[in-house]
Amino acid sequence: MRAYYFDNIPGDQRLPHDSTRPVAPETLAALKVSSWAIPVEGHEEKLNAIARERGYKNRDTIDVSKAGMGPIYEDKIKGFFQEHMHEDEEIRYILSGSGFFDVRETPTDEWIRISVTPGDLLVIPEGIYHRFTLDENDNIKALRLFQDEPKWVPYNRGPDTDANPHRIDYLRSIGVGA
Ligand code: LAC
Ligand code: NI
Repeated sequence: MRAYYFDNIPGDQRLPHDSTRPVAPETLAALKVSSWAIPVEGHEEKLNAIARERGYKNRDTIDVSKAGMGPIYEDKIKGFFQEHMHEDEEIRYILSGSGFFDVRETPTDEWIRISVTPGDLLVIPEGIYHRFTLDENDNIKALRLFQDEPKWVPYNRGPDTDANPHRIDYLRSIGVGA
């Protein structure tokens, strides 16, 4: 995993868009974004331990690629890149391929781009604005972990979502907002 500020230069979302300004681990920690590196080969034990500790009882696999998604691919890819939040954590363990998770830094409103590769476990907290894109390799396979029922409904950024209790709680948890 590598994190840096997104350069905001218009163009293909799949390009790195690396401003060359790195993001320190403490910056991500302050935004409540967590990550672990667990080598894919023999990952089960370590992953299960973290899952147990954090109460992630369930998981499934997602294959984001043209071949893996079929006709819904283009729409899904567009949806993933819409700035949104969820009412639960988004937890991904990368099995193969690669991609970029962008998370919004608050209060600067800058995009932080997190480049993920196999072995990365990333936890994006509920209430944070984020988006996802494949990179130029055009494929990623990941485990999606969750506690009980998956709550993956995306709430796109806007006045209504700004007023969502999970958004407000998130802001409070990072020490921003009322
Ligand atoms: C999701 C990622 C793409 O919501 O943000 O599945
Ligand atoms: Ni999401």
